[in-house]
Amino acid sequence: MGRSTTLLRFWLLLPYVSSLLFGRVHAANESYITAQAEYNTECKTCPHSLCTNKVAYEYEDVFNATCWTRGTAIVGDNLWLKSEAGCYVAEYDTVEYTGDYTSDLPYCGRASEKQHLTLADATLAYKTECSVCPSINCDVAAYLPEDTDVTLTCWTDQGQVIIDDPYWLKTTNNCYIAEKNLYSSPIAADKSRLDPCGPIPFLELANHLPPEASPSPEDPNPPENSTPEIAPRSPHPLTPTYLINVTVGTEYAPCRSCARETCREERTYEFNQEVWLQCLVENNGTWWSETTDFCYVANKDFWESPEGDYYRNPLCEYFEDPEDEGDDD
Ligand SMILES: *[C@@H]1O[C@H](CO)[C@@H](O)[C@H](O)[C@H]1NC(C)=O
Ligand SMILES: *[C@@H]1O[C@H](CO)[C@@H](O)[C@H](O)[C@H]1NC(C)=O
Ligand SMILES: *[C@@H]1O[C@H](CO)[C@@H](O)[C@H](O)[C@H]1NC(C)=O
Ligand SMILES: *[C@@H]1O[C@H](CO)[C@@H](O)[C@H](O)[C@H]1NC(C)=O
Repeated sequence: MGRSTTLLRFWLLLPYVSSLLFGRVHAANESYITAQAEYNTECKTCPHSLCTNKVAYEYEDVFNATCWTRGTAIVGDNLWLKSEAGCYVAEYDTVEYTGDYTSDLPYCGRASEKQHLTLADATLAYKTECSVCPSINCDVAAYLPEDTDVTLTCWTDQGQVIIDDPYWLKTTNNCYIAEKNLYSSPIAADKSRLDPCGPIPFLELANHLPPEASPSPEDPNPPENSTPEIAPRSPHPLTPTYLINVTVGTEYAPCRSCARETCREERTYEFNQEVWLQCLVENNGTWWSETTDFCYVANKDFWESPEGDYYRNPLCEYFEDPEDEGDDD
């Protein structure tokens, strides 16, 4: 008797069990399927990485997907879902659906696959970190040296303030640079030339790389073409990010052609003068900073300690072209 009751229960539960297994609580051709963000993700105005954002979804947020389309492939998956909010989320960023969106939802139509972008050219005045979101704790996607030409596609005023400027711009390399690092900014000239980027969630590089290619701080030999080592960072909420302004704390501070006491003195900063720093060099236990005048000052000549934990200043060597280092095996 016990056995037949168990069987009966099983048969009664079967439709429920199979719907769980196949993800079809509703029949095919749904008007919507509820999806869930697996990571913080962006709901975009078109299904491509460079499209501007309409909504920022956080980890575990749910949304109703109403149709599917194709766009930028994220780790080999080019399927995007249109949210009821009227924007597109990469399927890769959602919790795996056991059914098939392309048979269970309608196609959004050919027009949905188009990419709409505003573009403007600019050139970097200084060494610049290009980060996956416009803030200090975001992963650095690329270290770009001065005089690099970039193509900008949207702007945000919600970024980390650099010296006195909260504007950051997204480049067509799909990362953000601070406006302060440009020779001249299209924002200063005319904000309407570029679209606003929309709300930007906190993003992490590791969530958009194939698992085996994720950068690991322990890896002493990262594979070629991988992201450069991520600079050490402090969780301090007030940590200044570069460009960093510091103040001269000695009577005069020589700024030299290279990071050594014997290098030529190119200019002299005065006591209490504000100086902006680009990056750090360590030489035989002594720390130096490259300033925005492209010369080097010993950090002991500043009131602050730009090499300290409170600051998050990158090493100058991160911006060197690996081809120039001549340290190939
Ligand atoms: C589902 O929708 C597609 C097009 O949207 C249609 O061709 C197909 O016949 C529909 N299937 C069912 C079972 O309604
Ligand atoms: C999805 O749509 C259903 C039906 O309209 C609604 O009850 C539900 O709240 C929606 N879910 C979300 C996350 O918007
Ligand atoms: C850096 O610049 C900001 C904004 O101009 C200013 O408030 C701050 O005092 C400066 N810090 C230093 C150390 O000069
Ligand atoms: C490094 O510093 C030590 C003492 O601080 C000094 O004795 C040594 O000569 C320096 N080496 C070089 C290459 O400058």
